Amino acid sequence: MSFAALKEKQSVIWGNGPYQRIAETLTDIHELTVEKMHPQGGERWLDLACGTGAIAERAAAAGADVTGIDLAPALIDTAQQRASERGLQIDYQVGDCEDLAFDDASFDIASSTCGIMFAPDHEASARELARVVRPGGRIALANWTPDGGLGRMFKMMAPFQAAPPPSSPFDWGRPDRVRELLGDAFDLQIDERVSTLTMPDGEAYWQLFSSSYGPTKTLAESLGDRREEFHAAWVDFFENEYARDGKIVHPREYLMITGTRR
Ligand SMILES: C[S@@+](CC[C@H](N)C(=O)[O-])C[C@H]1O[C@@H](n2cnc3c(N)ncnc32)[C@H](O)[C@@H]1O
Repeated sequence: MSFAALKEKQSVIWGNGPYQRIAETLTDIHELTVEKMHPQGGERWLDLACGTGAIAERAAAAGADVTGIDLAPALIDTAQQRASERGLQIDYQVGDCEDLAFDDASFDIASSTCGIMFAPDHEASARELARVVRPGGRIALANWTPDGGLGRMFKMMAPFQAAPPPSSPFDWGRPDRVRELLGDAFDLQIDERVSTLTMPDGEAYWQLFSSSYGPTKTLAESLGDRREEFHAAWVDFFENEYARDGKIVHPREYLMITGTRR
C-alpha cells in the first residue's frame, strides 16, 4: 500500500470512535509534555496529530497561542467542540504532518504525543517539523517504543490485519532512528519513560478499545466471522501477559524526545 493510500484510510480509521476516551488514558504523557515546554504567554505552539486536543487544551490554558492539526476530520470536529465548551481559543485545522500549510520558522514550540509517529513518510514529517520551528524553538515528542507495551499490543493485532503498513510507526520509538531523522536540525534529549494503564480485566480493556480506539474498532468491524477470534486473542494477550494482583497492569514504554532548533 502506498503512503497516500494509507493516509486516506487513516483519516477515517482514527476518527472512528470517541478517541477522547483513549486520550484520557494518556494524561500523564500530556501533562509531562506541556510541563517540559514551559510555554510563555503568547508563544506560538503547533500540536501535530492533535487528536481531540489534549495537548492543545493544556497549552492554550497555559497561555500559548495554539494551532492543532490532525489528519482525521472527525477528531478535529470533536476538538473544536471541546475548545468552545471550555472557552479556549485554539486554531484547529485538518492537516497532514508530512505537508504542513505553515510558513518556515512560524512556531516557537511544536509537539506531538503518540501522533507524528503514525504518519508513514517519516523523512517528510521530520523535514516539516524542522522547517516550521524557528531557530531556538523547542519540540517535544512522545513516541511508543517497538518492544514496549504499545508496540507489543500492535504486534498482537498484526495477524488480523489485511496487510502490513508500508512503514513502521514504531521506528519513531528507536533513539538511533530519531537521531537520524531530527539530529541535524535539533539538539536532542531522548529519555525512556513508562506510562502505565491499569484496567479491571482483559474484557474491560477490549470494551474500551473496541469501542473508542479507531485502529482497534475499525479492525474489529472489518473481521466479520473472525471478530470473536480477535476479541479472544485480545483478552488472552492482556490476561496472560499483564495480569497483576487481580487487575491488568499495562506498562507502555515511550521515548520522551525534547529538542531545540539549531
Ligand atoms: C494515538 S492518536 C494521538 C492523538 C493525540 N496526539 C493524543 O496524544 O491524544 C494518533 C493521531 O495521529 C493522527 N495522524 C495520523 N497520521 C497523521 C498525519 N499524517 N498527519 C496528521 N495527523 C495524523 C491520527 O488522526 C490520530 O489523531
